[in-house]
Amino acid sequence: MDSNNLTTEIRNKVDIVDIIGERIPLVAKGKNFFGVCPFHDDTNPSMSVSREKQIYRCFSCGASGNVFTFLMNYEHKEFKEVLKDLGERVGINVTGIHINNVNTKYDHLYEAYLIASKYFQNNLASVAGKEAREYLNNRGLNENTIKEFGIGLSLTSKKDLTDLLLAKKFDLKDLNQIGLSVDDRDIYTDRIMFPLHDTYGKIVGFSGRIYKNIDQSKYINTKETVIFKKGHCLYNYHRAIDKVRVNKSLIIMEGFMDVIRAYTIGVENTVALMGTALTTEQMKLIKRLSKNVILCLDGDEPGKNAALKIGELLLAENLEAKVVLLPNDDDPDSYILKNGKDKFLNLIDSAIPYSDYKISSLKENVNFNSEEDLANYVNQVILETTKIDDSIRVEIILKKLAKDYNIGYNTLEKRFRELKEEKKPTTKIKKEKKVRVRKNKYILAMEQVIFYMLNYDWVIDLVEHEKIIFPSNETRILTNEIIYFYKKNRFINIADFYTYLQDKPDLLASLNDVVSGDHKETVTREELFAYFKVIKDYSVSQEIKRLEKMMKNESDYLEQAKIVEQIRKLKLGDK
Ligand code: CTP
Ligand code: MN
Repeated sequence: MDSNNLTTEIRNKVDIVDIIGERIPLVAKGKNFFGVCPFHDDTNPSMSVSREKQIYRCFSCGASGNVFTFLMNYEHKEFKEVLKDLGERVGINVTGIHINNVNTKYDHLYEAYLIASKYFQNNLASVAGKEAREYLNNRGLNENTIKEFGIGLSLTSKKDLTDLLLAKKFDLKDLNQIGLSVDDRDIYTDRIMFPLHDTYGKIVGFSGRIYKNIDQSKYINTKETVIFKKGHCLYNYHRAIDKVRVNKSLIIMEGFMDVIRAYTIGVENTVALMGTALTTEQMKLIKRLSKNVILCLDGDEPGKNAALKIGELLLAENLEAKVVLLPNDDDPDSYILKNGKDKFLNLIDSAIPYSDYKISSLKENVNFNSEEDLANYVNQVILETTKIDDSIRVEIILKKLAKDYNIGYNTLEKRFRELKEEKKPTTKIKKEKKVRVRKNKYILAMEQVIFYMLNYDWVIDLVEHEKIIFPSNETRILTNEIIYFYKKNRFINIADFYTYLQDKPDLLASLNDVVSGDHKETVTREELFAYFKVIKDYSVSQEIKRLEKMMKNESDYLEQAKIVEQIRKLKLGDK
């Protein structure tokens, strides 16, 4: 049986409502079922599951998909694994059947990294690894920890890994491109190698650390490649997922030695930023993990500054951020080594809310003898309290402020109200809504048409018959894929279309946009023609814009005249 039919058959034999319902409580409401979306932190039932369409979608974070994508994201498994699990459940054996994997295009690259990692691990265990093993042991990392984190060693000889991979028929060009080799030599020599994983737990890069007293940069990371973007990685993410669920909190550290150290004392709900910057992509990952975030960065100035910066970002995303205060010259690694497990656990327990941390940091460099400085300080503190949702905490802070600086509570409270009022138009919820309505009417029209194409084959026929051309790249490619799917399979439904797109992440994202929008259950021909009109108008206005740009760059009068004529015709047709 070919794998397409097989996936459809398995999907048809399970009910998405059962599968999701076994994992999160669902409540029936009308035709659909509702539950709390597990893909972002929420307490409202914003995820709807449709038995009829066999899809889910979340109105809050926009996640959507079929039973396979749900399990892939929820259990952090690959498509193959999920298919195998569900196959077993309905009595269909999928072993031995070739199934297209996610990102098949890059399979050989992952393979190269896996081989490299095994090779590095062998080196560390070999005679040549004696000094490196001693280094690691001196840092208190035992066999088990080394194994768990896949730590290895690159050798002093300059070509071993490259030669090994060439012998395994890898392309030198590929090896250069993915950052394992430069020309025909190894990139990493004589470093302790830490594998870096993607969110699925596949090795996508390395960080190599010096371990001898040499004057070289401490860490060298894999360069940016098609499968590795440092800013998209959180070290230890794939291992931390389950622990974060159990602990209901996520601890963020700077370095991987910190995370590894924490692991050795049983603190496993941790990830590392691999530095002090937090990228947008990392923020997305964090939001998927937990609403409760504990910042446990280094105790030095950069660490403290980073805590302020990152705390602010977390707050803006509506996350509950807390800050752990480490002594000035410690990072979590050194703190744990010096003080042991219990002290560290106490420290984590005593993490303070980010706003308290921010407020206490405002105190620095204030000259409390200067009235201006003091007023400025008090105003800043009040501004911070306007970001706090808990009114009791606000009152405590204001009362303390009143007492400490001998200012009337009512004065402070009045200022608080004023600042709170000023802030109102930009409160977070409104911001989120704005982002959602930013789609213009053209995009909305295209998305509506695409949504109905996915539900009714007659809409596909109509789009083809009316020769509707979608003016944006993403939507045009998506509609072409829908039409292709329909012609090949002679049926259309969203659930199977998700599977069809599963190794095309860009298109999947476009599909997500379409599905997570607002749609009525059914559509009439008249409504569709109204959408077509909007789409055509858009194409015309886009074309006019393009021609006008061309005009500007055209120096030949005759050519210019031709363009003017084209624009005129378009504008006439427009009316
Ligand atoms: N880092 C990096 N490149 C560097 C230095 C640091 O990518 N040249 C990243 C690493 O991911 C490192 C993190 O920043 O884990 C924190 O750096 P640092 O505090 O210097 O390293 P530690 O984790 O403390 O490592 P060690 O204890 O081994 O010195
Ligand atoms: Mn360190």
